[in-house]
Amino acid sequence: MTRRIASTELRLGMYIQKLGGSWMKHPFLRGSFLLTNPDDIKSILEAGIEDVWIDEEKGQAIQESDSITPSIHATAEESSDTQNVTQQTAEDKKSVVQSSMEDDIKRARKLFNDAKPQVLAMYKDARLGKAIDPHTTLPLVNEIDLMVQRNSAAILSVARLKTHDDYTYMHSLAVCALMISLARQLNMDEEQIKLAGVGGLMHDLGKSLMPLEVLNKPGKLSDAEYDIMKKHPAAGAKLLENSGAAPEVVDIALHHHEKINGLGYPNRLQGNEISLFSRMAAICDVYDAVTSERAYKQAWDPAGTIREMAKWEGHFDKQLFNAFVKMVGIYPVGSLVRLTTQRLAVVIEPGLTSLVKPKVKVFFSLRSKAPIQIQVVDLALPSCKETIDGPEDPAKWNFKQLEQLWQ
Ligand SMILES: [Fe+2]
Repeated sequence: MTRRIASTELRLGMYIQKLGGSWMKHPFLRGSFLLTNPDDIKSILEAGIEDVWIDEEKGQAIQESDSITPSIHATAEESSDTQNVTQQTAEDKKSVVQSSMEDDIKRARKLFNDAKPQVLAMYKDARLGKAIDPHTTLPLVNEIDLMVQRNSAAILSVARLKTHDDYTYMHSLAVCALMISLARQLNMDEEQIKLAGVGGLMHDLGKSLMPLEVLNKPGKLSDAEYDIMKKHPAAGAKLLENSGAAPEVVDIALHHHEKINGLGYPNRLQGNEISLFSRMAAICDVYDAVTSERAYKQAWDPAGTIREMAKWEGHFDKQLFNAFVKMVGIYPVGSLVRLTTQRLAVVIEPGLTSLVKPKVKVFFSLRSKAPIQIQVVDLALPSCKETIDGPEDPAKWNFKQLEQLWQ
C-alpha cells in the first residue's frame, strides 16, 4: 500500500515511492528507492521536501508510535544536523575564500572531464531516438551551480577552453555554467536557476537529430546546409517536450536563436515575445560559440568578444547583456590586455572591487618587442600605478603560451 507521510516521519527501511514537491528541488537521481542511508533522510529534509509517498509492501510501514514522538526526535536531530550543516557551510565558505584560482581551475576542469560521458551519452541517446530523462541532469547541474558559486571566473574560463573535437559536449556544459551564472547575477530564485542550467545544458540537443554529414562538416556550411541546421531548435524542443522536460527548458531549446529585432529563427519573435530564459540563452550561446575554437575558425579573445557583441544592434536584450558583462567581466580571465606601461599581460583573476582592475600576469614588453620576466600584478592595489590601456588582439601576436599563463 502506498501512503503519504511527512518527511520528518521517514525511517531507515522505508521504501520511498515518490517524493513530494517540485522535481527541481529533488537531490536524487532515483525516483523510488529503499531508504538505507541516514544521509538520504537528511538530504530530503534539507531540500525542503515536506512529504513523501512510501510503499509499505516494499519497505517498513509507519508505526503508530512513529508518528508523533519520533518526529520530535527527528526535529531535534534535524536541528543539530542543521547546526552541523551551518557550521559546514561556514567552513566551506572559509575554504572558498582560501582556495586559490589555480585550485579552482583544476577543480572545474575535473568537473567537466567527469561530466563528459554523461553529456555524450545524452546526445547519443537522442540520436538513437531513445527517450531523454531531463531529471537525470539535475545532479550535474547542481554540481555546476556549486562550482559557479565557489568561483564563477574559474569555471567560466575553463568552459571556454575547448578544441573543435570536444566542442559539442563542452559547449553544452559552458552554456549551462553561463546560464546559471547569469541567473545568479539576475538574483533569480533557486528553481529558476536550476531551470536555466538544465535549459543551457540541453539547448542544442536538437543538433543530435541533424544529418551527420552537415553536423560534422569541417568547413563552413553552405546556405542549404545552414537551412538544415536551422531546424535544430524545433527538433530539440520536440524531443524535450516528448521527454517530459519543463516548459522553460523546451522554450530555451526552441528560441535560443531568436533576436530582439525579430530577425532570428525559427519564429522571428521580437523583443519581449522572446522569454527571459531564451533571451539569456541567446547571449550565453553566442558568447561561448565565438570564444571557442571551431574546425573553421580560431577562438575570439573574450575581452574583444564582449566589445564586439556590445556593437551588435538588435541582436541581444541590452539590459540582460549589461548584466552578462558584469558577470563575465569586461576583461574575462584569459584576456590579453595592453597596460599603460606598454607591457602586455594576461588576466588571471577578476578584480574584487572593479571590473577594470583585475589581477594580471605581465609577460611582454611592447617597447623592446620581447618577452620579459613574468610578474603578477594586482591592478586593484592602491600602490599599483599601472592600468589597462585596452584589450589586445591575440591573433596579432600568435603567442603560444597564453593559456599556460592563466591556467
Ligand atoms: Fe543552437
